[in-house]
Amino acid sequence: MQTLHFSNKTYSKILHIPSLGLALVLLICLASPTSSCTEQEKGSLLQFLGGLSQDGGLAASWQNGSDCCQWEGITCSTDGIVTDVLLASRSLQGHITPSLGNLTGLLRLNLSNNLLSGGLPQELVSSSSILIVDVSFNRLGGDLHKLSPTHARPLKVLNISSNLFTGQFPSSTWQGMKNLVAFNASNNSFTGQLPTHFCASSPSLAVLELCYNQFRGSIPPELGSCYMLRVLKVGHNNLSGTLPDELFNATLLEYVSFPGNRLEGKLQGSHIVKLSNLGTLHLGENNISGEIPESIGHLKRLEELHLNNNLMYGELPSSLINCTNLISIDFKNNNFSGELAKVNFSNLPNLKSLDLMHNSFSGQIPESIYSCSNLTALRLSSNKFDGQLSEKIGNLKSLSFLSLANNSLTNITRALHILRSSKNLTTLLIGLNFVNETMPDDDSIAGFENLQVFSVERCGLFGQMPRWISKLENLQILMLSDNQLTGSIPAWIKTLSNLFYLDISNNSLTGGVPKALMDMPMLKSDNSEAHLDPRVFELPVYIGPSRQYRVPIAFRNVLDLSNNKFTGEFPLEIGQLKSLLSLNFSFNHLTGQIPQSICNLTNLQLLDLSSNNLTGGIPGALNRLNFLSAFNISNNGLEGPIPSGGQFNTFQNSSFIGNPKLCGSTLTHKCYSDSIPPSPRKKRDMKAIFAIAFGVFFGGIAILLLLVRLLISIQKKGFMAKHRRGSNEDVEATSFYSSSEET
Ligand SMILES: *[C@@H]1O[C@H](CO)[C@@H](O)[C@H](O)[C@H]1NC(C)=O
Ligand SMILES: *[C@@H]1O[C@H](CO)[C@@H](O)[C@H](O)[C@H]1NC(C)=O
Ligand SMILES: *[C@@H]1O[C@H](CO)[C@@H](O)[C@H](O)[C@H]1NC(C)=O
Ligand SMILES: *[C@@H]1O[C@H](CO)[C@@H](O)[C@H](O)[C@H]1NC(C)=O
Ligand SMILES: *[C@@H]1O[C@H](CO)[C@@H](O)[C@H](O)[C@H]1NC(C)=O
Ligand SMILES: *[C@@H]1O[C@H](CO)[C@@H](O)[C@H](O)[C@H]1NC(C)=O
Ligand SMILES: *[C@@H]1O[C@H](CO)[C@@H](O)[C@H](O)[C@H]1NC(C)=O
Ligand SMILES: *[C@@H]1O[C@H](CO)[C@@H](O)[C@H](O)[C@H]1NC(C)=O
Ligand SMILES: *[C@@H]1O[C@H](CO)[C@@H](O)[C@H](O)[C@H]1NC(C)=O
Ligand SMILES: *[C@@H]1O[C@H](CO)[C@@H](O)[C@H](O)[C@H]1NC(C)=O
Ligand SMILES: *[C@@H]1O[C@H](CO)[C@@H](O)[C@H](O)[C@H]1NC(C)=O
Ligand SMILES: *[C@@H]1O[C@H](CO)[C@@H](O)[C@H](O)[C@H]1NC(C)=O
Repeated sequence: MQTLHFSNKTYSKILHIPSLGLALVLLICLASPTSSCTEQEKGSLLQFLGGLSQDGGLAASWQNGSDCCQWEGITCSTDGIVTDVLLASRSLQGHITPSLGNLTGLLRLNLSNNLLSGGLPQELVSSSSILIVDVSFNRLGGDLHKLSPTHARPLKVLNISSNLFTGQFPSSTWQGMKNLVAFNASNNSFTGQLPTHFCASSPSLAVLELCYNQFRGSIPPELGSCYMLRVLKVGHNNLSGTLPDELFNATLLEYVSFPGNRLEGKLQGSHIVKLSNLGTLHLGENNISGEIPESIGHLKRLEELHLNNNLMYGELPSSLINCTNLISIDFKNNNFSGELAKVNFSNLPNLKSLDLMHNSFSGQIPESIYSCSNLTALRLSSNKFDGQLSEKIGNLKSLSFLSLANNSLTNITRALHILRSSKNLTTLLIGLNFVNETMPDDDSIAGFENLQVFSVERCGLFGQMPRWISKLENLQILMLSDNQLTGSIPAWIKTLSNLFYLDISNNSLTGGVPKALMDMPMLKSDNSEAHLDPRVFELPVYIGPSRQYRVPIAFRNVLDLSNNKFTGEFPLEIGQLKSLLSLNFSFNHLTGQIPQSICNLTNLQLLDLSSNNLTGGIPGALNRLNFLSAFNISNNGLEGPIPSGGQFNTFQNSSFIGNPKLCGSTLTHKCYSDSIPPSPRKKRDMKAIFAIAFGVFFGGIAILLLLVRLLISIQKKGFMAKHRRGSNEDVEATSFYSSSEET
C-alpha cells in the first residue's frame, strides 16, 4: 500500500506507482493462471460494456468465456479480484453503468479522455474500495447532488475535469470524502459560491483545482484551514473580493493560481511571507492594486510570479533578486514605474521569460538583464526606456522573442548591428522607437539567421527598403509601416520565399507595383497554410503541464501597400497571388483597369483599392469572392454597373462613392435596367438587405481588425476588456500601435 505524499513533485510519481504495481500484478497473474475473476465481477464488467454504444474494440477481449483478469484494461490482485479498470483514451461512448460500483476490490478507475456521457454514478464515489476515479475529458453532465456518500469513503483522487457538469457544489457531497487528497473539477460549468467546507470534511486535501467554471462570490476564508493544501488553482471564474487573510494559514501551499477573476485589494507583505513553500503565484487578470511587497524576497522557492493585467504600481522591490529560483516573471499591463536598474537581475540566473510590457518603467534597460543567460523571451515594450541598446544583449544566446517596441530608444543602426548575431532570435519587434532616424542600408547587417517576424513600424524612418532584408531567408512577416521610406519596392522581394505578410503602408514609396511582388512564393502558393511557428507571437509561458492557453490564430497572407505614392497600371498578374486574404492598395496613384484576374483571388476577405486613379468597369465576377467581407473602391474613376449578388449585396454605398460614373440599384445613379421602381415588397427587402449589409460590413472590418490585433498582440488578451491604466481613451486611441509594440 503506497502512502500518498502530495508534494508537487512526488505527487505525479506516486500516481505512477499503480502502473508499476500493474506490471507486477500482470506478471503474477500470468505466472498463476489459476486465480481468475468471479462470475459476479465478470457480470459487472459486462454490464459496463453493455452500457457503451461504442466500445473502442473492447468486446474483442471482453468475452464472457474468458477470465476477466486477462481482459484489456483490467488488472486483478493475486487472488483474482479486479483492482484496476484503466480505459483512458479508448474512444468509448455511452454511459458509465453503476455496476462498476459492485467490483468490491476496485481501487482505481480511469476512464479519462473518452466520449462518455450521462452522469457519474453515485455508486463509484461511495464505493467502499475505490481510491482513484478519473473521468476527466468526457461529456459527462448533470449536477453533483446525487453524489452523497453518507459515511467515510476511501476515495483519494477524484478528477471530473473537462466535462459538462453544472450546478452548485452541494455540501452533502463532501461529507463522506474524508480521505480526499486531490480533487479536480476544472473546465465544467459549476456555479454558485466556492464551498466553504472542503477541508472540514476532507482534512487531507492537497490538490484543489476548480479553474474554468463560473464560481462567484469571494474566496472562502475556510480554505485557510486546509493545512495540507499544496496546489490551489481557481483561475478563470468570476470570483471577487480580496485574498482572505486566513488563506495564508495554509502554509504548505506551493501553487496558488487565481488568474482571470475579479479579485481586488493589495498583496500584504506580512501574509505572503507565510507561504514560504510557494513556487508559483499566478494572480494575473484581476483588479489587484498596490505595490509588490518587499517581503516577496523571502519566497526563496518562487519560480513563477505572474501579476499581469492588474492595477499594481510603484517600483519593483529590490528584494526580488532574493527569489533566485525565478524562471518566469510576468508583470505586463500594470503601472509599475521607476528605474528598473534598481533590480539586479544578475541574481536570477534561471530566468527564462521576463515580461514587463505596458508599464511605466524608465531609464536605460538595466545591463544586469543581459546576464540572465537562460532568457528566451524578453518583452519590455510600451514603457519609457531610453538610450541605446547595449552590445551585452548578445550574451543572451537563447533569446528567441524580443520586443522593445514603443519606448524611446535611439540609434537603430547600432541596435541592428548588435542584434544580428542573436542566432536564436525568431521574433524582433522594435517599432515606435528610433524616431526619424535612417534605416541602415548596410550590407554588413547580415545575420538574423532565424528571424521569422520583424517589425519596425511607426518610427518615421528615412531611407529605402534595405537590401540586407533580402538575406533573411526565414522571414515570414515583415512590418515596415508608418515610416518615411522612399524609393521603389526592390525586385529581391520575391527571394523571401517564406514571406506571407508584408505591410509597407504609410510610407513614401514610389514607382510601379513590381512584377516581383506578384511572384511572392508564399502568396502564389495554392496551399494557403502558412507555416508560422505559432509560438512566435507568444511569449513562451512556463506554467507546467496544466497550461490551458489557447493557440493563437495567425492572420496570414496580407499585402498592404496603402498610403504610398505608387504609380503605373494596376498589375495584371495580381491573379497569381491565390492565397491572399487581404489586399490593400488604397491611397496611391495607380491607373488602368482592375484586371479580371483579380476574381481568381477566391480567398480574399479584404480588398481595398480606394483613392487611386483606376478606370474602366468593375469585374462582374468579383461577386464570386465568397469570403469578401470588406470591399472599397471609392474615389477612383470607375464606371459602369456594380456587380450584384454574392457578397456585393452586403456592401454599403461608401464602398463605391467618388466614382461618378458608377451605377447601381443602391446608388443614386441607377443603371438603365435598374431604373424600374421596385414593388413595395421589394423595397422592404432592400431595406433589410441594407441593414444586413451595414452590419456585415462593419462586422467584417471589426473581425479583420480583431484578427490583426490578435496576430499582433496575442498576449494582450483581456487587456482591452479590462480598461485599466488611467485614461481609457488613451489606450483605445493607441490600441493598434500599442499592440504593434506587442508586435
Ligand atoms: C456469461 O456466462 C454465464 C455462464 O456461462 C451466464 O450465466 C451469463 O448470463 C453470461 N453473461 C452474459 C452477459 O452473457
Ligand atoms: C450489485 O450487486 C447486487 C447484489 O449482488 C445486485 O443486487 C445489484 O443489482 C448489483 N448492482 C448493479 C448495478 O449491478
Ligand atoms: C488516467 O490516465 C491518463 C492517461 O493515461 C493519465 O494521464 C492520468 O494521469 C490518469 N489518471 C490518474 C488519476 O492517474
Ligand atoms: C486528473 O486529476 C488528477 C488529480 O489532480 C491527476 O492526477 C490526473 O492526472 C488528472 N487526469 C488527467 C487526465 O490529467
Ligand atoms: C489564521 O489566520 C488568521 C488571520 O490571518 C489568524 O487570525 C488566525 O489566528 C489564523 N489561524 C490559525 C489557526 O493559525
Ligand atoms: C536578500 O537576502 C539577504 C539574506 O537573507 C539579505 O541580507 C538581503 O538584504 C536581501 N536582499 C534584499 C535586496 O532584500
Ligand atoms: C539554464 O537552463 C539549464 C537547463 O534549462 C540549466 O541546466 C542551467 O543551469 C541554466 N543556467 C543557469 C545559468 O542557470
Ligand atoms: C537555439 O535554438 C535551438 C532550436 O530551438 C536550440 O536547440 C538551441 O539550444 C538554442 N540555442 C541556445 C543557445 O539556446
Ligand atoms: C550609433 O551607433 C553607432 C555604432 O554603434 C555609432 O558609431 C554611432 O556613433 C551611434 N550614433 C549615435 C548618434 O550615437
Ligand atoms: C519626425 O518627423 C515628422 C515628419 O517629418 C515630424 O513631424 C516630427 O516632428 C519629427 N519628430 C521628431 C522627434 O523629430
Ligand atoms: C488622377 O489623374 C488625374 C489626371 O491624370 C490627376 O489630376 C489626379 O491628381 C490623379 N489622382 C490621383 C489620386 O492620383
Ligand atoms: C483564373 O485561374 C484559372 C485557373 O487557375 C485560369 O485558367 C484563368 O485564366 C484565370 N483567370 C484569369 C482572369 O486570370
